[in-house]
Amino acid sequence: MASDDKPAILLLAGDGIGPEIVTQARRVLEAFIKQGDFVATISDAQVGGVAWLEEGDPLPEHVLAQAKEADAILLGAVGAPRFDLEAPRDKRPEVALLRLRKELDLFANLRPAKCFKALVDASSLKPELVQGLDLLIVRELSAGVYFGKPRGEEKMPDGSSRWVDTQAYSEAEIVRITDVAFELARQRRAVLHSADKANVMETGYFWRKIVSERHKKKFSEVTLNHILADNCAMQLVREPKQFDIILTDNLFGDLLSDVAAMLTGSLGMLASASLGTRDEKSGRQNALYEPVHGSAPDIAGKGIANPLATILSLAMMLRISFEREDLASRVENAVETALMRGLRTADIAISEKPISSEAMGDAIIAEL
Ligand code: IPM
Ligand code: MG
Repeated sequence: MASDDKPAILLLAGDGIGPEIVTQARRVLEAFIKQGDFVATISDAQVGGVAWLEEGDPLPEHVLAQAKEADAILLGAVGAPRFDLEAPRDKRPEVALLRLRKELDLFANLRPAKCFKALVDASSLKPELVQGLDLLIVRELSAGVYFGKPRGEEKMPDGSSRWVDTQAYSEAEIVRITDVAFELARQRRAVLHSADKANVMETGYFWRKIVSERHKKKFSEVTLNHILADNCAMQLVREPKQFDIILTDNLFGDLLSDVAAMLTGSLGMLASASLGTRDEKSGRQNALYEPVHGSAPDIAGKGIANPLATILSLAMMLRISFEREDLASRVENAVETALMRGLRTADIAISEKPISSEAMGDAIIAEL
C-alpha cells in the first residue's frame, strides 16, 4: 500500500450466501471506519457464477486487475449447482477462486480451527475432546494436483478416453510453504505435524524429505512429526488436541480443513487467509481472506446464513494485512461474547432460537 494512500479493500461477494455474509462483514468494517478506528476504501466486484452470468467469465479481466491492486480481498463464496449444469467446465464458478489463487500466487493458506467456549456442545465430538481446541492448518494452495499438468482428457489409441490430474511439487514450492508453517510454529507451541502420503506417492516422499531438510537446517527447535494424511484425518476426530500446526499439501489440506472445521461446531465458524510472498522492499503482500465454508445454495437468499466465519476472516485481514491486532481482537472478542449470550444462527443453535445473519451482524457491531 502506498504510504499516503488509504488501504484498498476489495469485497468479492460471489454466489449463494456470499452476498449475505459479506454484507455483515462489511458492516463491521464500516463500523470501525465510522468510529475513526480504521481507514480504508472499500470496493466491490463480482466473481463466480454471477460474474459468468453477467459478463461471461467467472473472473473477468477487470476484476482480476482490481484484485491485483487491492491491499486485501474479502471473498464470500463461489459456486452453485445450477452452474454445474449450465456453465461450460472452464467457466464454472470455482475457476474464479482457482485463478485468483494462481494469479496472485496465494501459496500459503492458513485455516485456524478454534473451538469457542460457547460452542463446545455444538461439535459432533464429545465436549472434552474439543474444549480449548486451537489448531492451525497450513495448506499449500497454489500447486499440487489442483494445478498440475497434464490435466484433462486424453484420447487412447482405441478411441476411448481417460482423464488425468497431475500431482507435482517442486522443491521451491515445498520450501516456501514449509518455512511459513515453521515460522508460525515458533510463534505458537513449537510443534508441527506434516501430513503427506510418503508411503504411496512420489510427491509425498519428496515432501517429507524437503520438510525434514528445512527442519534440520533452520527450525530444529520446533518439534516435527511426520504423519500420514489418512492417519491425520483419523487422529483429528480421535484426539484433535494433539495438534497445533498441521502442514500439508493442497488436496490433503482441502480435506483435513473440512474435518477440522467440524470440530469447532460448524463449518460456519472457520476463517481463512490465503497469502502470497511479502515483497521485501515495499512490504506488500497479496492476501485474500475467505470463510472455509462454501456457498450453501440450499439456504441462499434466506438471510439465515452464519456470517461469523466471514467476520472472523475480516479479523484475520485486520491482523495480518494491516497489523491491527487491536481491531482483530475486538472482533474476535465480540464474536465470543455474542456466542456466550446465546446468540446463534441456525447452523450452531442447539436449543436457542436461531437468529438471522443480519441480527448476528447487529450483535457483533453492538459488542464492538
Ligand atoms: C476450499 C474449497 C475450494 C477448494 C473449492 C471451492 C474450489 O473447497 O477452499 O476449501 O477445493 O480449494
Ligand atoms: Mg474445501
